[in-house]
Amino acid sequence: PTRIFSGIQPSGGLTLGNYLGALKRFAEKQNDGIETVYCLVDMHAITVWQDPEKLRQQTREAAAGFIASGVDPKRSVLFNQSQVSAHAELAWILNCVARMGWMGRMTQWKDKAGKNSENASLGLFAYPALMAADILAYKATHVPVGEDQKQHLELTRDIAAKFNNDYGVNFFPITEPMIEGAATRVMSLRDGTKKMSKSDPSDQSRINLTDDADTIAKKIKKAKTDPEPLPETVEGLKDRPEARNLVNIYAALAGITPEAVMAEHAGAPFGSFKPALADLAVAHLSPITTEMTRLMQDPAEIDRILGDGADRAEAVARPILEDVYGIVGMIRSR
Ligand code: TYM
Repeated sequence: PTRIFSGIQPSGGLTLGNYLGALKRFAEKQNDGIETVYCLVDMHAITVWQDPEKLRQQTREAAAGFIASGVDPKRSVLFNQSQVSAHAELAWILNCVARMGWMGRMTQWKDKAGKNSENASLGLFAYPALMAADILAYKATHVPVGEDQKQHLELTRDIAAKFNNDYGVNFFPITEPMIEGAATRVMSLRDGTKKMSKSDPSDQSRINLTDDADTIAKKIKKAKTDPEPLPETVEGLKDRPEARNLVNIYAALAGITPEAVMAEHAGAPFGSFKPALADLAVAHLSPITTEMTRLMQDPAEIDRILGDGADRAEAVARPILEDVYGIVGMIRSR
């Protein structure tokens, strides 16, 4: 049976990258017969220091972002990670399966810890093992993510396979990443070679799900481009990262292929393509922003939804974790 799991860190506001690479697709996966489990990974967030009150606020805001993007807390299980202790418990066991060398090769670790890894938290190093635990605690078969999580998902497969092999069981599934669509890697609006990120110091580099219509339109119109008009075909976008990014964003928002965007806008100058993109982005994102704002009026209701989701998540994860304890040889006598 198909079970989908994915997560987002509430370590800042949600961006258009999170929306197109993840949230929009999470909503699309909610079909009959498919279980969808979506998690706000607050324990991953604290691998770098977070202001406690902001973390709580951002977790609620991210939950509102999920719901406003179409994740239905009745059809999907929506919760925050720290409320289901199976994640932390399984992470410990997987810490003992994963190898230091594997973790040290993670590009996100190398990027985030930088040259000063002596001073990075132990949690930041172990981050991908907690991520594997998130997925494997549900025996999830499929994980929709953006391109930047690909290496972490390969590690998850390695950890699952090593666990199965070390204990001579066929227990954990080898999870399939789902990295699909035109916007698996949305780039910065200021630099087409850098990914759009909630942690970029420049707010101009990203579109936030909380930006109003005017701000969205301005950011797109100011987005960095080269001076040439759009080419005739997708191939012509090859060495033009900024142009390609805007075409990909357009395609993902409109729900069409980049080829179809080119068929419509071939040869268009950015002076006309950008306003068209801005209109499309505003039409698509404004209702989401409005709904987020509405949901944020009632934080107690958001907390209630997360609590309910955590109960349902726990009901799935706990028996799986008990099996794991049994497999590794722990006494469970109460
Ligand atoms: P995070 O919080 O950085 O991002 C959440 C999701 O958004 C995608 N994403 C993007 N997609 C396209 N373009 C971008 N510029 C862009 N930026 C972010 C990410 O690929 C991701 O799908 N480690 C994960 C969270 C996590 C997780 C998990 C994911 C924890 N446990 C288990 C899946 C399964 C992370 O930091 O995502």
